[in-house]
Formats: sequence, C-alpha cells, structure tokens
Amino acid sequence: MPNQFQFQFHSHTVETSTHTMRTYIQFLFSLLLFSLLCFFVHTKSIIEPCTSSSSCPSLLSYLLPYDSKLSQIASRFHVNISDILAANSVQFPIAAAADHILPSNSAVKIPISCPCVDGIRRSMSAIYTVEASDTVESISDGYGGLASAEQIASVNGINATHRLMNGETVVIPLPCTCLNNVWNGETTVYMSYVVREGERLGSIAAASATTVSDLEAINGLGQALVGPGDVIAVPIAACSSANLNWYNETLIVPNGSYALTASNCIKCSCGPIDLRLQCSPSGLDVACYNLECKDSKLVIGDEYVTHSKYGCNVTLCLYRGHRGGKILRRYAKSISLI
Ligand SMILES: *[C@@H]1O[C@H](CO)[C@@H](O)[C@H](O)[C@H]1NC(C)=O
Ligand SMILES: *[C@@H]1O[C@H](CO)[C@@H](O)[C@H](O)[C@H]1NC(C)=O
Ligand SMILES: *[C@@H]1O[C@H](CO)[C@@H](O)[C@H](O)[C@H]1NC(C)=O
Ligand SMILES: *[C@@H]1O[C@H](CO)[C@@H](O)[C@H](O)[C@H]1NC(C)=O
Ligand SMILES: *[C@@H]1O[C@H](CO)[C@@H](O)[C@H](O)[C@H]1NC(C)=O
Repeated sequence: MPNQFQFQFHSHTVETSTHTMRTYIQFLFSLLLFSLLCFFVHTKSIIEPCTSSSSCPSLLSYLLPYDSKLSQIASRFHVNISDILAANSVQFPIAAAADHILPSNSAVKIPISCPCVDGIRRSMSAIYTVEASDTVESISDGYGGLASAEQIASVNGINATHRLMNGETVVIPLPCTCLNNVWNGETTVYMSYVVREGERLGSIAAASATTVSDLEAINGLGQALVGPGDVIAVPIAACSSANLNWYNETLIVPNGSYALTASNCIKCSCGPIDLRLQCSPSGLDVACYNLECKDSKLVIGDEYVTHSKYGCNVTLCLYRGHRGGKILRRYAKSISLI
C-alpha cells in the first residue's frame, strides 16, 4: 500500500490562538526583561563520566519546535533519514520520506551514537550553521532544549566578546547515556528526554514503560523533582544480538523499533511482544545478495513448520552477521515433540 504512508510519530495537540498585537508586544517586553534578568536558565541534566573510547547506541526524544521536513530533521542532527524512520518504526520509501513534513510538537526519536568526549558521554556530531537572527537561546530551542543555551555557548566559546556570527558553524553538544546498555540486568538503550512544563517523573515513567524509582536511580535524583528543561535519561528495554552467535557484529535495538544493517540489506526488529531480535531482508532499494539459505527455499527470517503426530519440525533461515559485503546466514532445524 505505497500510498498510505502513515507516520506514527507521537503528536501532541497544538493550540493555535490568534495573538493580538497587544499580547505580542507584552510578550516581546517580557522576553526582553527575562533575557536581561537571567542570561542563562540553569537546568539539570545527567552526566555520565566515561573513559573508554567505545560508543553505544542511544536515542534523543526530540519535540519538534516547528514544522520540519524529515530531511531537515535528519540534517539538523546529522543522522540518516532511514535511521530516523527505523528508530520510530516507520516503513517508508526513503525518497518520499525526505519531503514529508512533520508538524511542530511531534515527538520524534533520533538515534545517535553516544561516544566519550573529554571524559563525559555526549555527542558532538550535530553541526549548526548560524543564521542572522540566531541567538544561543534560539538555537537551543531549535534542538528542542536537548542542548541548553549555556552548553552551546560554553562548547563553542561564545561570550560577550565572541558573539555568534552569521554563517559560522557551531557544535551542538547533545546529551546521551550508555551505562553499558544495561539496566536491572537487561539490555537497555537510554533516551535523553527534555522535561516539559507540568510534567512529573510519574507521568514520564508511565508514558515510557518504566518506573519513578528507576528514573530516580538512573538520573541520580534525590527526590522525584524535575523541572521544565531538565534532561533526564529514560531506559528503554532493548533486543541484543549478544547470544545469537553473529559474526563480528553486535546490534542493540530498542523495543518498538528496527535497525538496518549489512549495508541496509537486513532489517532487524525488536518487540513488541518479546524482546527477540527478528531479522529479515529490508526490501529497500539496494543491491543485496545471499539472502537465501543454501539448499533451501528459505530466505533470511523465514520459518517453515511441518506437523506430524510426533510433533513439529521447524526449519529456519537465520541472519548471523556480515563480513566484507557478504551476508552470513544459518539454516537451522529443530524438532519439538508434542
Ligand atoms: C548514512 O548512510 C550512509 C550510506 O548508507 C553511511 O555511509 C553513513 O555512515 C550513514 N551515516 C550515519 C550517521 O549513520
Ligand atoms: C571569550 O571567549 C574567547 C574564546 O572564544 C576568549 O578568548 C575571551 O577571553 C572570552 N572573553 C570573555 C570576556 O570571557
Ligand atoms: C572479525 O573477527 C575476527 C576475530 O573473530 C577478527 O580477526 C577480524 O578482524 C574481524 N573482522 C572485522 C571486519 O571486524
Ligand atoms: C515493548 O513495547 C510495547 C509497546 O510498544 C510494550 O507494550 C511492552 O511492554 C514493551 N516491552 C518491554 C519489555 O518494555
Ligand atoms: C522431521 O525431521 C526428521 C529428521 O530431520 C524427519 O525424519 C521427519 O520425517 C520430519 N517430520 C516431519 C513431520 O516433517
């Protein structure tokens, strides 16, 4: 059904009201007063010290500040469109997806690699080109508050003497957490989440299948108090290839999403019923070979069951990593007795 594209990004209702000139001027005035009173708003965010040079997969929960094309979101975060679609479990021809406009206030999951930079976990891969009317605050808003104005200024050495210049590029420090991709002994991917006005840990926990005590423990919060603009790490149960005997590849995929691997030939999904990684051909428009298991008619991901009075025979064709452009697979048989 190629014409029934349905984005499943979580969308919040937006209140559009017509502002009168008077409220607009009041707004400008309070904005001015606000910026004079406090240049930067201090917000809390989780800081994970690190020493290793390894990176881990992580997510950002990005609340769109304005209507944006998917291609604009992808370039804002320096991420591939196909990976954004995968993180949000949207199936979509990529060419058509690029121009798709998502309305402001949609919550989009952005998958980013989380490296160790100067002893703390954060991503420095998003680069922003400054426009004439930009301030560090407006740039921070453009990134949904994931990087505060203060952090952007600090990382880029922006101060009273070094002001933002039109056309200059700045690095956007994005918060991320690895914590070894484990929580309570289970494979976990952490998502950086900006607390909104009126939100409490309870509502955030309920919306993301976790608990207040887990959020407190992960984020080192003494009391269950968070305020708007704070960035917290939310744990998301994930599937792992760790026990699947893959050749030279490890994949960690958050519940409710999929990931592309083997040069986009293979798509591995996680959940939602069990946390078992299910890999099959991606169906994307890329040249892929070796998708069939030898001596069988089964393609990777296929399962063939025959029944008899003694039980059933299950034959499977399983993905097991890739090497030098070659996809590896395993033909497996199992017999279960009744
Ligand atoms: C985006 O996709 C290209 C081609 O598939 C790949 O080379 C590149 O590493 C990807 N970039 C990211 C950030 O994943
Ligand atoms: C502003 O930052 C620059 C480096 O970007 C530094 O050389 C300068 O001393 C700073 N000025 C002030 C007033 O902090
Ligand atoms: C794959 O793993 C083997 C050892 O298990 C290693 O020697 C080889 O360099 C790895 N290849 C790649 C492409 O990572
Ligand atoms: C995975 O996500 C589904 C909904 O998308 C949810 O019902 C289920 O509880 C989640 N599983 C785990 C282990 O978190
Ligand atoms: C199941 O497999 C065994 C051995 O591979 C075979 O002998 C048997 O006939 C098969 N049974 C069915 C129902 O296919």
